[in-house]
Formats: sequence, C-alpha cells, structure tokens
Amino acid sequence: MIVRKLVLKNFRNYDSLDLKFERGLNFIVGDNAEGKTNIVEAIHFLSLARSFRTSECVELIKERRQFATIEARVEEDTNRKDIVALLTSSSKKIMCNGKPVRKMSELSSLVNVIVFEPKDSLMFNDSPLVRRNFLDINLSKKSRIYLDNLMTFEKLLKERNTILKNENIDTLQLNVVTEQLIAVQEAISKYRQAYVGEINAVLSKIITAIKGENEVAKLEYSPFTKLDDKFLERARALYERNLESDIKHHITQIGVHREDMKMMLNGKDISVYGSQGENRISVIALKLAPYFLIEDQGKRPIVVLDDVMSELDKEHSDRLVKFLEKFEQVFITSTSTKYKNASIYEVKKHIVTRRNA
Ligand SMILES: Nc1ncnc2c1ncn2[C@@H]1O[C@H](COP(=O)(O)OP(=O)(O)OP(=O)(O)O)[C@@H](O)[C@H]1O
Ligand SMILES: [Mg+2]
Repeated sequence: MIVRKLVLKNFRNYDSLDLKFERGLNFIVGDNAEGKTNIVEAIHFLSLARSFRTSECVELIKERRQFATIEARVEEDTNRKDIVALLTSSSKKIMCNGKPVRKMSELSSLVNVIVFEPKDSLMFNDSPLVRRNFLDINLSKKSRIYLDNLMTFEKLLKERNTILKNENIDTLQLNVVTEQLIAVQEAISKYRQAYVGEINAVLSKIITAIKGENEVAKLEYSPFTKLDDKFLERARALYERNLESDIKHHITQIGVHREDMKMMLNGKDISVYGSQGENRISVIALKLAPYFLIEDQGKRPIVVLDDVMSELDKEHSDRLVKFLEKFEQVFITSTSTKYKNASIYEVKKHIVTRRNA
C-alpha cells in the first residue's frame, strides 16, 4: 500500500502541511530539528494509533493548540481509503472513509506501516521487552487470534499478580487463574515460534543484499518452556516449583512475558560480538522482514526509515537504497541525499518543498 496524500494540522511543529507522495522512494531531507521525523511519525501513527516516539498524545499536538489532525489518502491496488486521526490531550479518534475505527486490529488492516528508528539499532542490547514488542506488534497485525490471546494473557497475568499481592492468598482462585494463564500461553508461544521461523526464511537474504556478502542470520527465540505435546504438564510443574518464590515476590516470574530472543549473525550473537554497524544492519533487516511475509504485493506495508543512513558507510547505504528501490513505498529521513531515483522533499522553517518535482 502507499500513502498518496498527507495533511497535518497542529501536528508537532506544523501549523498546517499538505503533501503529495509518490510510489517508491521518498526522501525527507533537512537540517536537524526542522521537522523530518515529525512527518514520518504522522504517517506511522495511522497504523497503530500510537507514536513510535511517545505514548503521550499531548506531545503530538502543537504547543498551545487544543487538537491535532492527521489526514491521509491510502491506496491499496485500486482501493482508496481516507483516514483521519483527531487527537486531543485526552482522546484520539480514527476514522476511515467517514466511519469510526474502534479497534487496533481493524486499523492495522487499513494502514500498515513498518518503522525503523535510530534507537532500534540497540534492540539486541536493550531490554527483552523491546524484542517481545517486535513480535507482539507484528503478530497482532497478522493474526486477530494472537492479539486476542495476548490480551487474555495480560488480563490473567494482572489477576494472578493481584492475587499474589494479597496477604491471605486464596489458593483455589490462584489455581484457577494459573491454569487459565498456562493454557493461553501455549498458543502465544507457538505463534511466536512459527513467526520467528517465517522471519528466518527471509532474513539472511535481506542482510546479504545490504552487506553485499553472503551472510547467515538467524533469530533465536526461546519459549519459556519447550513447545511439544508435554507443554502443559511441563508448564504446570514450572509454575508449581516457582510458586513459593512468586508468592514471596508478589509477582509471576515465569511465562511469555519474560521470553526473549537473540540474533545470530554467522553463528555469533550480535549483542555480544556484533559491531555497531552490524547491529544496525541486522535490525534494519529484521524490521524489513515482515514486508516479505505478505504475499499480496498491494497489501505490503509502507516502510518508514528514520535517520537510517547515519552510522552506515557509503557502500552499505548505497546497497540499502538500491534494495529499497523495489519496495512499494519507502520514506527515508536524512540530513542530506545524493540519490536521484527518488522523490525528494526538503524541510525548512516548517515548509516542505518538493525538490525534484
Ligand atoms: N508539540 C510540539 N509543538 C511544537 N513543536 C514541537 C512539538 N513537538 C516537537 N516539536 C519541535 O519539532 C522539532 C523536531 O522535529 P523533528 O524531530 O521532526 O526534527 P528532525 O528534522 O527529525 O531533526 P533531526 O535531524 O535532529 O532528527 C523540534 O524543534 C521540536 O521542538
Ligand atoms: Mg529526526
């Protein structure tokens, strides 16, 4: 899919902005703090009803204004969708072709955006939560069942932790919740494992294209307990064995909410052995992988790469851009560009000018 038109009002540093975009590569260039990331942040917002930079809606609204709007025309083959997001300090509303969009699962099927932001380079040195978020966001977009299971899990986890905080624990209630919690995790872990397998089927090819040398990349996911036909028994035993410690710490210490994954590049863990560039390239490849897992070309996501070129040498940036040329639509923010096969938008003093129209 592609975003053809973007209209912003009171969004971040913009009073109003009206842009038309092309298929293929779109470079947003300009000096620091001119408002490049703000533009791609607005595009990405429409896919999750959430910014990749902040969880506070109020930060997205221009200072001293009451509301902000993001309007976009999204095209998917011959299908056109007009998406509008209205943000106030206490609410956000999304409409598609004039009708309200109530669920995140509905939204991600309307607008799908993949984002790479500078801090993602450290993804494998960051907390496991960041890596689980990658799986959860992508799987939730892909499968309604996964999202439902995840929400059920989170509700049950909260319930179990609340029980564990009580001074007199109701054992019967704890057992019931624990049993339900275990059951829902089998499905979550299985989805995660299968998805990591799908990612691995495309990951080495992407890294090889960017690096220009044959590379073997593998994402290694470790479920909290082995996923075979004894899953339930083993999980029950684990919870049983850990019960005393869970009670002592008033928290559930075992489960899918503590799972993690590693990235191996040519057999070595990138968080331990990878250079900064290797970490960056590996994460870019990982972020791009879901693009190739969508069969229907027209439904493939819009790709946003914020400041992706910094820290990459010329050879790697050139190869990355060449690789991105075949994508449906890509937005790259950068302080400069020399690429000719792209639409270039220059951002200066809150005004965006198409340089090579
Ligand atoms: N709610 C807001 N109201 C007004 N201005 C804002 C708001 N939020 C952010 N800004 C301004 O937007 C500017 C930053 O925009 P942005 O992050 O898009 O810059 P950038 O062009 O990506 O810069 P860099 O190259 O440094 O990444 C800052 O000057 C910041 O003060
Ligand atoms: Mg920026």
